[in-house]
Amino acid sequence: MPPKIIALLGSPRVGGNTAHLLEQAILGATEAGCDVEKVVVPFLKFRPCMEIFHCVDHDTCKIQDDMIPFYDKFREMDGLIVAAPVMTMGIPGALKSFMDRFQVYYMAKYERHQSFIPKEHRDIRKTLFISIGGMNVPNDFEGSKLTMHAFCDIIDCPYWGEVLRNDMDTIKDITTRPEVMQAAYDRAFEMGTLIKKALEG
Ligand SMILES: Cc1cc2nc3c(=O)[nH]c(=O)nc-3n(C[C@H](O)[C@H](O)[C@H](O)COP(=O)(O)O)c2cc1C
Repeated sequence: MPPKIIALLGSPRVGGNTAHLLEQAILGATEAGCDVEKVVVPFLKFRPCMEIFHCVDHDTCKIQDDMIPFYDKFREMDGLIVAAPVMTMGIPGALKSFMDRFQVYYMAKYERHQSFIPKEHRDIRKTLFISIGGMNVPNDFEGSKLTMHAFCDIIDCPYWGEVLRNDMDTIKDITTRPEVMQAAYDRAFEMGTLIKKALEG
């Protein structure tokens, strides 16, 4: 079976710059032999974590919304691609709320000490982070990366690689930067190839 990759778009602009980079990454992972499912997170209908704490002793969330299928999908996936613009120096709100709802995984792993992901599978899984920011400041990705590292630990899909490009307010159109588009393709191709090889043993 081909490796399963989930590709999250954190931007609401489906034809925007983040989306262009994600398409390159999806192409790279697909050409490496993976099945890729793209999810436009801002279009999902779900609530933020309400701290009901049902997940302290249950394997899912009590809030019945679009998040529910992702608790199983994130167990099955072999790799993750997250593509997000910087918003207010961090992960955009909808995507951040999506990540927060993985408190279900946090409780299993850190409170009950029974991660949903067996160690052998964790050792194979990998996450690629793609991000762009408008501003030309040195710490543009710090907030997002802190969140990404925490999220990758919680879901047991280790942070493996990144493609980052700030100064988008000047660049405007990412397709004028073929080296960044190529990097998104190459990193995803590399990640997909590594996962495929590891699964084949
Ligand atoms: C609500 C909002 C907040 C933003 N905050 C930041 C920020 O803190 N730092 C930054 O570098 N860019 C910020 N930006 C700019 C975006 O990161 C930039 O325009 C990016 O290229 C948008 O990607 P897209 O084409 O996929 O929408 C912000 C944009 C929006 C809409």
